[in-house]
Amino acid sequence: MADDLCFLAKDSIIIKPPKRNPLVLRMVVLIFVMVCGVYICSVCLKQIGGRSTGRLLSVQVIGKPCEATDIEPSEKPYLHFPKPKTFSREECACNPVRYFAILSTQRSGSGWFETLLNSHMNISSNGEIFSVKPRRSNISTIVETLDKLYNLDFLTSASKNECTAAVGLKWMLNQAEILARYKPTINTTLLIPNLKQVDDLVTKSLEYFKSTRHIILYYEDVIKNRTKLVDVQDFLMVPKMDLKSRQVKIHKGSLSSQVENWEDVKKTLKGTHYESYLNEDYKL
Ligand SMILES: *[C@@H]1O[C@H](CO)[C@@H](O)[C@H](O)[C@H]1NC(C)=O
Ligand SMILES: *[C@@H]1O[C@H](CO)[C@@H](O)[C@H](O)[C@H]1NC(C)=O
Ligand SMILES: *[C@@H]1O[C@H](CO)[C@@H](O)[C@H](O)[C@H]1NC(C)=O
Ligand SMILES: *[C@@H]1O[C@H](CO)[C@@H](O)[C@H](O)[C@H]1NC(C)=O
Repeated sequence: MADDLCFLAKDSIIIKPPKRNPLVLRMVVLIFVMVCGVYICSVCLKQIGGRSTGRLLSVQVIGKPCEATDIEPSEKPYLHFPKPKTFSREECACNPVRYFAILSTQRSGSGWFETLLNSHMNISSNGEIFSVKPRRSNISTIVETLDKLYNLDFLTSASKNECTAAVGLKWMLNQAEILARYKPTINTTLLIPNLKQVDDLVTKSLEYFKSTRHIILYYEDVIKNRTKLVDVQDFLMVPKMDLKSRQVKIHKGSLSSQVENWEDVKKTLKGTHYESYLNEDYKL
């Protein structure tokens, strides 16, 4: 429970303004790569797979294995039938579950996006579970935590009483840069290099996960176009619902009033291909 609180506290950091370039990270940035199948960490999969062969094989013979119906053969590798230790899935036992991960940068609206996901009765998105240090201290603890999560034994406020059809977590690509300060002055010398750095980070991540089934979402698109959330539900193969968030935007008003040296920032971005970030088209 302490861990949960910790995670909540951490999660809320995301809505605070960052120390530097809020501009960069808030409106700009971007990306949720959602990864189906735990390929976020192929090592983990191997370990999980390795463990369940042999020793558990005789156990599986007892229960009739679940068969997913109406599923394309190419989709089958992504389906799982977890058997949680902490509770019985009972009537949900043969409802397939998909695993996902949200890869994101700070200030990209991923916390809000998660609340939207969690408003779906069949989706459980558990936030930055690796913000708790002991869980990421070595590969064994990471695997153990992922095992627990994907086996539905990781109980958080995101856990569902309904049948879970998609379970996942959030991972920050730039974890080290969580620092907050109200109304920052943006160092305009560093602004373009910073934007470029975030671009590169995202490009690299996409390269790394390109062979994994994924969907890319931009904050601005989710704001502007609610049909994007239909795409997400299609991706997770859950029944389509109207997703809602009770998260309140804490920084209201124009961008220009939130940045100490807005005029300098404007001057710096004018004429570059980041100029569109000056627009306020992301307003709720
Ligand atoms: C991993 O970390 C945990 C907790 O910090 C510790 O108990 C365990 O011995 C470590 N395992 C390895 C293989 O280092
Ligand atoms: C979603 O949850 C409901 C309620 O538990 C369940 O009846 C339904 O089968 C679930 N849908 C999926 C796709 O698992
Ligand atoms: C901006 O950052 C550069 C490099 O770190 C530094 O040399 C410069 O003094 C900073 N400018 C301001 C106004 O803080
Ligand atoms: C909204 O997104 C859908 C796909 O997600 C796309 O087909 C449609 O053209 C978009 N609408 C607007 C107004 O951008």
